[in-house]
Amino acid sequence: MACELADDTSWPAFLSARALLRSGVQELVFAHRGSDWSCEAAGDADLRDARQVLSVSVRPASLVRPRTMAAECAWTVYSPRDNGLPDFVHADGRPVCPTMIAMARVYLPVLLLAAAARAEGRTFVAGHVTQTLDGRIACENGQSQWIGNEADLRHAHRMRALLDGVLVGAGTALTDDPRLTVRHVPGADPHRIVLSGSGRVLRAGRALRVFDPPGGTAVIAAHATVDAPPNGARVVRVVADGPALDPAAVLAAVHAIGVQSLYLEGGARALSSFLLAGSIDLLQVHIAAMVLGSGIPSFRLPPVAHVRDGVPFAVDHALLDGHVLLSCRPRPKANATDGVR
Ligand SMILES: NC(=O)c1ccc[n+]([C@@H]2O[C@H](COP(=O)([O-])OP(=O)(O)OC[C@H]3O[C@@H](n4cnc5c(N)ncnc54)[C@H](OP(=O)(O)O)[C@@H]3O)[C@@H](O)[C@H]2O)c1
Repeated sequence: MACELADDTSWPAFLSARALLRSGVQELVFAHRGSDWSCEAAGDADLRDARQVLSVSVRPASLVRPRTMAAECAWTVYSPRDNGLPDFVHADGRPVCPTMIAMARVYLPVLLLAAAARAEGRTFVAGHVTQTLDGRIACENGQSQWIGNEADLRHAHRMRALLDGVLVGAGTALTDDPRLTVRHVPGADPHRIVLSGSGRVLRAGRALRVFDPPGGTAVIAAHATVDAPPNGARVVRVVADGPALDPAAVLAAVHAIGVQSLYLEGGARALSSFLLAGSIDLLQVHIAAMVLGSGIPSFRLPPVAHVRDGVPFAVDHALLDGHVLLSCRPRPKANATDGVR
């Protein structure tokens, strides 16, 4: 089965793209020389020895062939559509290889949407869920490892490395006991954040891996009643009437501690509250080739009386070794017109 995200040779170039976009560069080129991909600012790039070039523009593609590029070089232009999902334009000659296109299809929307949110002074949120064909993220007893596959795990670690912070709800921190670090790919660890309105994750009564190594984890809580947070965890209080926190207030708190892009890894309650509040910029849904028939659903939202009241998305997809990864962008609800068919 095809794993379209198996290309590790281009991964370091995406880490470079992250750094360039953070420094304010707006036009990038990915260049393939020898066996490696690199990423450079378009204005500085000498492409005479490149065999493939992917030009990336944050604005609609102008399709000007880079001056220093050889005529026989394979060339493709990436530009985002209005909804932020990718568009690839092959103007002339050969397109760049499909493995690079697949990596760009999944990771460039993340980087470009994060850069746009940063420019607006707000924190970008990419939500992620790994679910079965029948929309379950765990068994009824909470066991969920692993619904996804090896490629999903590597993808999750890539996302951690691309974004400033990774957040899980208290239920996930207590049930799955994740580390939230980057281990399966090269890349720096993100800020680790646990959302626990009641602060119960601070009183777990056992060592949780999310607090190890010490001192690096933030807990966002409305009520935090512990004198000594575990392993030097930083408690960030968000004012609220009860334990349920407004995602906008959570994001303001996260932004205040320097996290300008966030990977929301679950679970169902954290994801659902962010989706309901319209606080997810990009939702990645990994669909595994499995039916559970029971278990915890991916989302739990208030009932609606008509399908037009659901949350609509624009969708792109990639294949992950027999599973599917959907990149979903929320889109405005259509006008209420009763379709007839
Ligand atoms: N397949 C997957 O992709 C995936 C990913 C992650 C987790 N999981 C599974 O999901 C299950 C855990 O999910 P879960 O339903 O317990 O959800 P969860 O979001 O992990 O945890 C829920 C808890 O997080 C806190 N929380 C979430 N949203 C909040 C908000 N808006 N304001 C304040 N606090 C908030 C609350 O903590 P307090 O109680 O302290 O107030 C809440 O009780 C586990 O079985 C895990 O294995 C699956």
